[in-house]
Amino acid sequence: MKTISIAVIPGDGIGPEVVAEGMKVLKTIEQLDPSISFSFTEFPWGCEYYLEHGRMMAADGMEQLKGFDAIYLGAVGYPGVPDHISLRDLLLTIRKEFDQYVNLRPVTLLNPELTPLKGKNAEDIDFLVIRENSEGEYAGAGDRLFKGRPEEVVLQTGVFSRKGTERIIRYAYDEARRSGRTLTSVSKANALNYSMVFWDEVFEEVGREYPDIQTYSYLVDAASLYFVTEPERFEIVVTSNLFGDILTDIGAAIAGGMGLAAGANINPTREFPSMFEPVHGSAPNIAGKGIANPLAAIWSVSQMMDFFGEETWGKRILDAIQEILAEPANLTSDLGGTATTEMAGDRFVEILTANSLAGPA
Ligand code: NAD
Ligand code: IPM
Ligand code: MN
Repeated sequence: MKTISIAVIPGDGIGPEVVAEGMKVLKTIEQLDPSISFSFTEFPWGCEYYLEHGRMMAADGMEQLKGFDAIYLGAVGYPGVPDHISLRDLLLTIRKEFDQYVNLRPVTLLNPELTPLKGKNAEDIDFLVIRENSEGEYAGAGDRLFKGRPEEVVLQTGVFSRKGTERIIRYAYDEARRSGRTLTSVSKANALNYSMVFWDEVFEEVGREYPDIQTYSYLVDAASLYFVTEPERFEIVVTSNLFGDILTDIGAAIAGGMGLAAGANINPTREFPSMFEPVHGSAPNIAGKGIANPLAAIWSVSQMMDFFGEETWGKRILDAIQEILAEPANLTSDLGGTATTEMAGDRFVEILTANSLAGPA
């Protein structure tokens, strides 16, 4: 029997609401599949914890997390704690210190009615964004001098190391080769004359080892345009930390919204745990109402299953998402339904259970 130990950090706002539904899915898998078991340990970290303890996680929090196989996270950030502190001290610390340098964010339209793009269907919107997740614009390097004075100067430095840039680009080439898809690099060398010139050079250099891969290279402004007008151009996309953040919200918008966008923060060496989370935040505007869409958090469970070699479950979860998307009454209001978070989660579990009892995925 395979046991996977999961650290659960529900976090803030709608985080706990959607994670509760993802946990139901994990517990269902465990019940249905005698070869898998999960152990769950929940951590109460986040903004409430901060208000009580003056920190976002326990002082030895990273030490506590280190031994788990995976982290399942809801969302971080809430009014009352400055975002640049809450996110840095929990989410970004985990991504960086556990060297989760690959952020996998699928943009896959599972139901053609959910895209706001006229005339686009499922074949047109089916790609994977591979976002650099450990450095770049998010390196946290900089300074603020002469604060509040007329001569005030603020520096926010992008850090693009050769190791960091090469490894994410190489990961993307490998993924393109493994899946037989094209690879598009998104950068901005016309304006960012050091970092993005370097990025483009590395993309070309590494590409020499992959002559079989068809590549494209776009500036990020044009890529944003094509995400909306011609998403069919994209199969695998590799890009920097900040560009990947922004582009994947556009990706969410064209594939059904934030309630459906999932992400995996991967440490490919498996030296430290990888982390699975919806792309969305804590959504304070709907938190506490029980109406958040749990499907993004559930989709990230599918990514978790894939990561642990349980692709059959990964696929079953995606199939069940596709199936529930055809049942408007069982969807939350962001997708035009009237279901609560809990109702959508319960119906999801019913579909998953019925399908897996019915036979192989
Ligand atoms: P957000 O993703 O929380 O919300 C953006 C919009 O999408 C809102 O209208 C919200 O209601 C909607 N939405 C998001 N998730 C939804 C869901 N599951 N179901 C239905 N609707 C959903 O982004 P924001 O409002 O810019 O940020 C809120 C807080 O979350 C901030 O503190 C921000 O820093 C933080 N944040 C955290 C993460 C993370 O933990 N990974 C990601 C993004 C933002
Ligand atoms: C995301 C979020 C985070 C990011 C923020 C909250 C730091 O927007 O996961 O997409 O930019 O990576
Ligand atoms: Mn984001």
